[in-house]
Amino acid sequence: MERGYSIPFNRPCLAGNELQYITQVIEYGHASGDGAYTRKCQLLLEQALGVPRVLLTTSCTHALEMAALLLDIRPGDEVIVPSFTFVSTVNAFVLRGARPIFIDIRPDTLNLDETRLERLITPRTKAIVPVHYAGVGCELDAIMEIAERHDIAVVEDNAHGLFGKYKGKYLGTFGCLATQSFHETKNFTCGEGGALLINDPQYIERAEIVREKGTNRSRFFRGEVDKYTWVDIGSSYLPSDILAAFLYAQLEAREQIQVKRRRIWEYYYEHLRDWAQEHGVRLPIVPADCEQSYHLFYLLMPDLKARTRLISHLKERGILSVFHYLPLHLSPMGERFGGKPGDCPVMEDISDRLVRLPFYNDLTHEDQDQIIEAIQEVRW
Ligand SMILES: Cc1ncc(COP(=O)(O)O)c(C=O)c1O
Repeated sequence: MERGYSIPFNRPCLAGNELQYITQVIEYGHASGDGAYTRKCQLLLEQALGVPRVLLTTSCTHALEMAALLLDIRPGDEVIVPSFTFVSTVNAFVLRGARPIFIDIRPDTLNLDETRLERLITPRTKAIVPVHYAGVGCELDAIMEIAERHDIAVVEDNAHGLFGKYKGKYLGTFGCLATQSFHETKNFTCGEGGALLINDPQYIERAEIVREKGTNRSRFFRGEVDKYTWVDIGSSYLPSDILAAFLYAQLEAREQIQVKRRRIWEYYYEHLRDWAQEHGVRLPIVPADCEQSYHLFYLLMPDLKARTRLISHLKERGILSVFHYLPLHLSPMGERFGGKPGDCPVMEDISDRLVRLPFYNDLTHEDQDQIIEAIQEVRW
């Protein structure tokens, strides 16, 4: 827990069976990757989402790196990414030599603005990486139509959106590949972890190889070859079965966890709605055709001064709130790729004003009452 705060921003929460399952892994004697709990997690996700193949990874960052390897991203290729995202969405492709082309976001959902997509496409564009911010789906119909027309791969960065839906279909099931995060701040966690969702079966065999240090060890374990060897480039992207055991306990409790998170989200929304309207603060917008994943709750303050006042007032009351994300096109790395102020005006404006409130599965309504009361005291 963050020291000095009576209400932290995040707190890891047990769903129930985590420690029992970890004990089983130790007793059974297979604690490295691809053990029984890794297979259970993968199968659960494949069946729940209807995805042909899911591979657990050590993080969403690593799942994104695998996606870049699988798409054979090379120096000179361009990848269209929102500037409003976590570093890894972009860095994974830059590692392979790609040039990031930053796209601005929509002012409502803060997802990439699909109306700006087509003009950024060039003959070098190899991939589009939509991020479903806060687990609210991007305009996937438009994005997929444009990508298919130009024969460009779509990799969904679904770090926030597990079990969210767009027009009734699960997020993470639209692009040829999609990535999940099980980092401790996510709805379902094992501390650090992730998954690659493979929707296009042509990538399955190579994905197994890339994840296992470039070897065909997965085929060897299935008895399909009599020895395993080095067949491609790759790295070590598979998590220990101890982590998978922890994660399985969380995933099997997914309905209870989502019910809790929905209650927390709705409580914030109901109790802040009038105050927000009176004070020129905007609450999250979820379009009617999106079922969100209840990953986070944010306020869009009127300006930077108001946000700074709010964060410091909450801090004085022992409550940790945080902002999200700094514009990547204006970061030192983004500037190296030619990013400059004014490239993504909506993103630049929003990143000064957004504040995220504490949100974790065991956050109580009493804690939320304290947070809401403290918010309503702030003057700017
Ligand atoms: C949109 C997005 N993508 C990727 C990541 C990276 O996830 P991980 O920490 O599992 O590597 C994050 C982390 O929070 C994220 O918010």
